[in-house]
Amino acid sequence: MIDNISGLIIPEHVGIIMDGNGRWAKKRALPRSVGHKFGAQNFRKITRYISKTGVKVLTLYAFSTENWKRPIEEVTALMGLFKQNLIDLLTDFRDDDIKVVFIGDRSAFSPKLIELINESEEVAKNRKGMLLNIAMNYGSRDEILRSVKTIAADVRNNKIDPEDITLNDIESHLYTAGLPDPDLIIRTGGEFRLSNFLLYQSAYSEFYSTETLWPDFNEKEFDKAIIEYNQRNRRFGGV
Ligand code: FPP
Repeated sequence: MIDNISGLIIPEHVGIIMDGNGRWAKKRALPRSVGHKFGAQNFRKITRYISKTGVKVLTLYAFSTENWKRPIEEVTALMGLFKQNLIDLLTDFRDDDIKVVFIGDRSAFSPKLIELINESEEVAKNRKGMLLNIAMNYGSRDEILRSVKTIAADVRNNKIDPEDITLNDIESHLYTAGLPDPDLIIRTGGEFRLSNFLLYQSAYSEFYSTETLWPDFNEKEFDKAIIEYNQRNRRFGGV
């Protein structure tokens, strides 16, 4: 409920590590893929809520560069869910004016999924509401490596002197170029780790972990994270 958080400081950029779909299914003696199905439904519902709270940028971690290591049946089920949900969100997010961008290396996906990813971005490109970054085949170490390679090529081509490389050069080649750093990173499912998510960008992010499993992470749970965020004293290395 928006009322719970009215008057509070709303973070400009929120990142969410959507963990716990597998355990949610296991608790109900269901296959892991069913957990992902409910997780995907929740992704669409909670994104629409968050867009109404005043958050400007939401980055959701949907599939990491390491998730290919999962059993083939699970990866296949996830790819099917991505396709289905992207088709649905082509219309779903229109009313909320949500702009969708995908971060990560999309070239590894099937031609059909790549087409849907491109189409989802295209139909939403002029929207003015919240920016939703969906991280798919995303890994922060890979992202940093790409930035370093681009800068190294610029050095080789005499476009830049190594002495003149700045943090801004590194940042301008990350997927999140031009966006504010995340103020708050939420992880569901009870673990306290970043799992290769926004490593560079989260230098001063506030971290919030909840035991709640992703399919159960609802509006009230998001409000709790915002209430706790408002109790943090952010110093950015100062006093
Ligand atoms: C982690 O739970 C979850 C994932 C690897 C998949 C997340 C994907 C979705 C919620 C679907 C989103 C859909 C779109 C279109 C973006 P886990 O399997 O690691 O759970 P566990 O830790 O309980 O095993």
